[in-house]
Amino acid sequence: MDDKQKIIETIGGALQRPDISDKPYYVTTPIYYVNDKPHIGHAYTTIVGDVVSRYWRMRGKEVAYVTGTDENSQKSVEAAQKVDRGDDVKGYLDEMSAVWARTWDDLDITNTDFIRTTEDRHLKGVEKFWKAVEAEGDIYKGSYVGWYCVGCEAFLKESDLEDGKCPTHKKEVKKIEEENYFFKLTKYRDALLAYITAHPEFISPNSRKHEIINYIRDHMEDISISRHKAEVGIPVPGDHEHKIYVWFDALLNYLTAVGYGTDDEMFQKNWPADLHLVGKDIIKFHCALWPAMLMAAGVPLPRRVYAHGFFTIDGTKMSKSLGNAIDPIALSSEVGIDALRYFLLREISFGEDGDFSSQRLRDRYQTDLGNELGNLCHRVLSMTEKNADGKVPAIPAEHDEIPWEEYISAMEDLKFGRALDEAWKVIRAANKFIEDEKPWAVAKENPEKAQQILAHLLETLRQVAWMLLPIMPHVSEGIFTQLGLDAAVELQKDFEDATAWGGLVQGTKIAKSDPLFPRLS
Ligand code: MSP
Repeated sequence: MDDKQKIIETIGGALQRPDISDKPYYVTTPIYYVNDKPHIGHAYTTIVGDVVSRYWRMRGKEVAYVTGTDENSQKSVEAAQKVDRGDDVKGYLDEMSAVWARTWDDLDITNTDFIRTTEDRHLKGVEKFWKAVEAEGDIYKGSYVGWYCVGCEAFLKESDLEDGKCPTHKKEVKKIEEENYFFKLTKYRDALLAYITAHPEFISPNSRKHEIINYIRDHMEDISISRHKAEVGIPVPGDHEHKIYVWFDALLNYLTAVGYGTDDEMFQKNWPADLHLVGKDIIKFHCALWPAMLMAAGVPLPRRVYAHGFFTIDGTKMSKSLGNAIDPIALSSEVGIDALRYFLLREISFGEDGDFSSQRLRDRYQTDLGNELGNLCHRVLSMTEKNADGKVPAIPAEHDEIPWEEYISAMEDLKFGRALDEAWKVIRAANKFIEDEKPWAVAKENPEKAQQILAHLLETLRQVAWMLLPIMPHVSEGIFTQLGLDAAVELQKDFEDATAWGGLVQGTKIAKSDPLFPRLS
C-alpha cells in the first residue's frame, strides 16, 4: 500500500458518517466578529439559518440552530482600542456580543444556542481537540515567515498581495517571522478530494466545489495554527507562550456548542452538523481546513457546507467606510420582519451574489405582498363575512393540486426563491379563480355555489399559510388567526395531516382583522 492509500485507509473511520435519520437537524451560521454591529449581510445568513430551522421544525424534526460570536481575534482588540476600551477588552467583548445576541432576538431568530468563543465550554473543547490532533502526530513546530492580514485573520502568500496590500481589505499586511505550530493540512489532500468526490452534496453550490477542488489540489499548504505572544486567544495546551490561531479555534465552535469536550451525550445526539451556512468569503476554511481538522481528530464530517453570495447595496460594495451598511433592525421596523425575510429570499438567488435595493424592497412589498397575498386574504375574508355569515362553509373535496412536492424539494435544496414561486403559483391561481368565478355575483343567484367557491379559497389560504411558515412565520400565524384557527395549536400539528386538503372545519368562525401588509409611509 502506498502512502496516499494508507492515509485514506487510516482516516476511513472518520469519513464514515453515522446514521443520522433520527438525530436533530443541526444547522449553523458562521460565528461573527464583534468588531462592529451586525449589518444586512450578517442578518441574511442568520435569517436563512432561521428559515431552515423553522422548515425542519415544521416537518416535525428537533432542530439545533447555533450562531454566536468569534471573539479571540486581533480585530476585537483593535476595535476595543479604537473606542478607548483597550484596557477592558473583556468588557468590550461582553457588550458587543450582547449586541449581536440582541439583534437576533429582535429579529425573532429561533437559534437554540448562542456560543461565544470566550466561554469556558469552548475552551475545554478546543483543548481536547488540539490534544487529539497532536496525538495523531499532525501538529509540528516550524518557523513561519510571511504576511498576516488582520482584516482576514489569515496568513497570505507574497503572491496573494497587491501592491504589498491585502487584495480584499486594501490594507497593509503584517510581516510575521516566528516559531509557530503547524497543522499538517497537506497530509489530508487526497482524503479531502476523495471525500468531496464521494459526497457530491458536501459543497454547494457547484461553482464553489470546483474552486475548492482546485485549491486543495494545487495550492493548499500546511497552515500555521498558533501565534507567538498574541494578545488574545486560547493558549496552546502545554505551551502558553503561544495562542491558538483564531480560525482553528473558531471553527471548533460547531463542535463545542453541542457539547464536544463537555457533554458527550449531547454531542453524540447532535453531531454531525447537517448544514453549515457560510458566505463565499470563508469557504476554504470550511471546505478544506475544517474537514481536514476533523479527520485528524477522528470526528465525523458535517453533511453539507452551503456558500451563499455577497450583497452589494444599490450596486456598490457594502462597507463601513462607504457608510452604506444597512442596519437590519432599522429596516425591519420600516417594513416588518417578514417582508424583509421575504425580500431577501425572493430577490437574491441563494448561492449567488445579489444586490440590495430599498426601492425594490418597497416595490415587492407593494406588489407581491400587498397586492397579491394581502389582497387575496382581504377579499376572501371579506366575502366570507358578507356571503357566508363569517363562517367556514363545507370544504369541497375537489381542488387543484397544491404543489407540496415541488415546494419540499425546493426548500430542502435551499432554493428558497423556487419554494416561494410555488407558493405564489397558488396565490395567483386563487386570485385568478376569484376573477373568473366572481363569487360576489354568484352569491346573488346561487348562494350555495358562492359558498363552495369561498370554502375552496379559505382552505387554499390555509395551505398557503403552511407554505409560508418557515419564511414568513408572523404572516402565517396572522393568516391562521384570521381563519379562526389558534396558531399555536396549528403549529403543533403533524405536517402531513396538517397539509392534507380539507383541514378547515365547517362552521369555524373567521376573525378578519387588519390588513397583513398595511401601506408603507
Ligand atoms: N468570524 C469569521 C467566521 C468564523 S466561522 C467559524 C467571519 N466573520 S464575519 O463576521 O466577518 O462574517 C461572517 C459572515 O457574514 C460571512 O461569511 C457571510 O456569511 C456574512 N457576510 C458578511 N458580509 C456579507 C455581505 N456583504 N453579504 C452577504 N453576507 C455577508 O468571517
